[in-house]
Amino acid sequence: MTAPQEHSFADLGKVLVIIPTYNEAENVERIVSRVRTAVPEVHVLVADDNSPDGTGEMADKIAAQDGNVHVMHRKGKEGLGAAYLAGFRWGIDNGYDVLVEMDADGSHQPEELYRLLTGLRGADLVLGSRWVPGGKVVNWPKSRLILSRGGSTYSRLMLGVPIKDVTGGYRAFRKETLLGLGMDEVASAGYCFQVDLAWRTVKSGFKVAEVPITFVEREHGASKMSRNIVFEALWRVTVWGAQSRVAKLTGKGKKK
Ligand code: GDD
Ligand code: MN
Repeated sequence: MTAPQEHSFADLGKVLVIIPTYNEAENVERIVSRVRTAVPEVHVLVADDNSPDGTGEMADKIAAQDGNVHVMHRKGKEGLGAAYLAGFRWGIDNGYDVLVEMDADGSHQPEELYRLLTGLRGADLVLGSRWVPGGKVVNWPKSRLILSRGGSTYSRLMLGVPIKDVTGGYRAFRKETLLGLGMDEVASAGYCFQVDLAWRTVKSGFKVAEVPITFVEREHGASKMSRNIVFEALWRVTVWGAQSRVAKLTGKGKKK
């Protein structure tokens, strides 16, 4: 699927696609070129955590040849959430109006980016969703499917967010949404960062839309998913859920 060339998103302002990387040497060139081909008007920021495999230097080479590609070198592996927050701040400081999250490994297809951007015309945050009609996952083992569906369902029930795919990592934010959701208080480092931001967006009264995507499991390199990342998510979502229930009971949650 290719974005029809007549698509233009100039009405949304300047769009920055942020791609966090840790050891993605086999993927970085391909993903950047796919983004630049699929929607040529968008800019790309690679946020690399000093990958030992040289991903950062490869990104520098791409940036040297394409003025729409930028690289952020971070000092060490601090988790995908931290890399995105730094990327959002850089993007906002540099005049971008729309900030997109995308994995480097091809799981989030650049050819579907136009769907997210189109959705943003009527929303403050658009989530690429695997669990709405038309959405799907290709090549995931059963264990990962169960973890993801379970994580999404648990988060939805604990937090009461009306979102089908709350853990997904392919999303487009308007700058105003990020500025309004309290980015500076976000402590989540791993994948629960995604739940954290979606929940904050809903609580802050912004409009969230989901558009179907096909999530394709990576062919090269390894996932950074770990037991610690799952535990962090489970623990934080449980604490947030309990806190919001207490707040409702004591009446402190009224204003939102
Ligand atoms: N800079 C940086 N630092 N990048 C990181 C780090 C880190 O510590 N950890 C992971 N990344 C990058 C990877 O290099 C990749 O580009 C992207 O973040 C996603 O990492 P994967 O390891 O491929 O994640 P995944 O496929 O297991 O999980 C994806 O799906 C989850 C939901 O099912 C991600 O999109 C998650 O955000 C999402 O919650
Ligand atoms: Mn992946």
